[in-house]
Amino acid sequence: MARLNLLLRFAACLLPFGYGVAAQAENSTFHNPILPGWHSDPSCTQVDGTFYCVTSTFIAFPGLPIYASKDLINWKLASHAWSRESQLPGVSWSTKGQQDGMYAATLRYRDGEFYVICEYLRTDENILGVVFKSTDPFSDDSWSDPVTFGPHKIDPDLFWDDDGKVYAATQGIILQDLDLETGELSQPAIELWNGTGGVWPEGPHIYKKDGYYYLLIAEGGTERDHAITIARARAIDGPYEPYPNNPILTNRGTDEYFQTVGHGDLFQDVEGNWWGVALATRCGPEFQVFPMGRETVLYPVTWEEGEWPVLQPVRGEMSGWPLPPANRDLPGDGPFNSDPDKYDFAKGSPIPRNLVYWRVPGEETFSVTSRGLQVVPTRSNLTGNWGESGSNVLSGKEGLAFIGRRQTHTLFTFTVDLTFDPKQEGQEAGVTMFLTQFNHIDLGIKLLPAKKGKKPELSFSFASQGTGTPPPPQTIPVPHDWAKHPIRLQIQTVNATHYELSAAPPSKPESKIVVGAASASLLSGGAGSFVGSLVGVYATCNGQGSGTACPKGGEAFFNRWRYDGEAQYISATESIPAK
Ligand SMILES: *[C@@H]1O[C@H](CO)[C@@H](O)[C@H](O)[C@H]1NC(C)=O
Ligand SMILES: *[C@@H]1O[C@H](CO)[C@@H](O)[C@H](O)[C@H]1NC(C)=O
Ligand SMILES: *[C@@H]1O[C@H](CO)[C@@H](O)[C@H](O)[C@H]1NC(C)=O
Ligand SMILES: *[C@@H]1O[C@H](CO)[C@@H](O)[C@H](O)[C@H]1NC(C)=O
Repeated sequence: MARLNLLLRFAACLLPFGYGVAAQAENSTFHNPILPGWHSDPSCTQVDGTFYCVTSTFIAFPGLPIYASKDLINWKLASHAWSRESQLPGVSWSTKGQQDGMYAATLRYRDGEFYVICEYLRTDENILGVVFKSTDPFSDDSWSDPVTFGPHKIDPDLFWDDDGKVYAATQGIILQDLDLETGELSQPAIELWNGTGGVWPEGPHIYKKDGYYYLLIAEGGTERDHAITIARARAIDGPYEPYPNNPILTNRGTDEYFQTVGHGDLFQDVEGNWWGVALATRCGPEFQVFPMGRETVLYPVTWEEGEWPVLQPVRGEMSGWPLPPANRDLPGDGPFNSDPDKYDFAKGSPIPRNLVYWRVPGEETFSVTSRGLQVVPTRSNLTGNWGESGSNVLSGKEGLAFIGRRQTHTLFTFTVDLTFDPKQEGQEAGVTMFLTQFNHIDLGIKLLPAKKGKKPELSFSFASQGTGTPPPPQTIPVPHDWAKHPIRLQIQTVNATHYELSAAPPSKPESKIVVGAASASLLSGGAGSFVGSLVGVYATCNGQGSGTACPKGGEAFFNRWRYDGEAQYISATESIPAK
């Protein structure tokens, strides 16, 4: 066999460039996750040699990012299927729960058009099914307003049978025909399969191959019992015969660093080799510290004619089918997911494509001015007031003055220069590691209440809340000679489990003051178990003012935004690069 490989490689050298080379390429080695950071419930497809994936975003906006890649390793942010408030008027601000919103989409391509089918969960209302369409997934504007429908359950699949009939399977697992023009669903839904007994059979995808309908699902819940199971039938409505060795993919009951493996999708490359994606959490069996939440992993699939597919177990280092050659030549102006941020906010420049908000922001909240990224404070702070007296404005339900990017590396440094001159108590601006309104670690600048006969004093304020016990808050006066100038705020991972938040004058980084440190376990699970950490900036007046507006003033200006990834852990003890 080795000799044959050698011969084939020798033959490949003699062939004209670009001819038949891929067929002789050797198996590849690659590392998971391929979409590090908060990228759950991936659904992917390949069109003309480019791979496309969509992932869940819940109430973050813009939502449903589409990533594109030619080599399965370098993933560029191509667009967001949901990027305009007008696509779903009022829906964002009608959503209370931190983990409501856009769940588990399916991405498919058919006759020149890309389709993203998803459902949006709102408090007290029925599930809102949505189908967005685009002929150019590298443009936000090309995504249509959605056709809406009323599914009974979450996680819609989209499948076209050979006769052109369109089906949406959902959690359960149930099947309905879907009219893509009107959103009409056939009734009653047909029950396909209950799975193998794990809780929440969901995330279905149907594939037709060699005369079988294969039904790939997730079950066991999205934590350590998560798994992928499969069944097949000769007719789309069943009866479905389960694979005898289910689950077909899981890390359940193991000591692996990558846990929660489940919610997968399968697709082929141009050579005809099969691949799969799934979500996974880098937490080890302890399941304690995983601020990046559920990330997207890749695994090779071997699928012989008439046979059940074989899905390779998910690890940090993988080996499988030859990968397409590394290639970053993709259209559009979105960044690659793993690249650093280097944003200087030249006046009039657009808000960088990979930055997201918590719900649709107010129209005036964010703009790029001659002074940098201007953030107009909201009355709601990052937590919001959810009590009796908490209006929609005070709870942040109508938008927060927060903008951030995903934490995409185990180890990273984030810095940004803040120009901020608060005049009133309550006005505050700063940087935050943010998972939900109930899980965040903040370093702000604000005025301390005035001592008798004195003016209020400008101070650094460190505060955190989340899963488990937060460290005590800290308040440190801003040194007098730092005031009136920009201050560089920094969030850095001191190791894989802890963040340190510090401040320094940009011209004197050596005089850095560490204001606080906190465990990333605060941002792991609990109220934010479906989402993943964002790192970014905020401004608030902490409930002062009335109606929708803070008292005048208190705008924050951010400049020189830098995010640098430093290392990616692929097991509890190994990182790339090695640390
Ligand atoms: C799923 O389980 C329910 C309740 O036990 C049962 O009534 C139903 O027939 C099952 N459906 C399938 C497709 O096996
Ligand atoms: C190459 O990878 C595929 C997919 O994982 C696997 O089936 C095959 O055995 C591998 N070949 C070699 C020579 O390792
Ligand atoms: C990580 O850093 C924190 C804060 O400095 C420290 O308490 C903790 O022991 C460190 N963890 C490891 C594994 O070194
Ligand atoms: C957040 O704002 C509310 C008023 O809406 C206030 O009660 C609360 O103390 C503020 N939280 C912090 C940490 O300042």
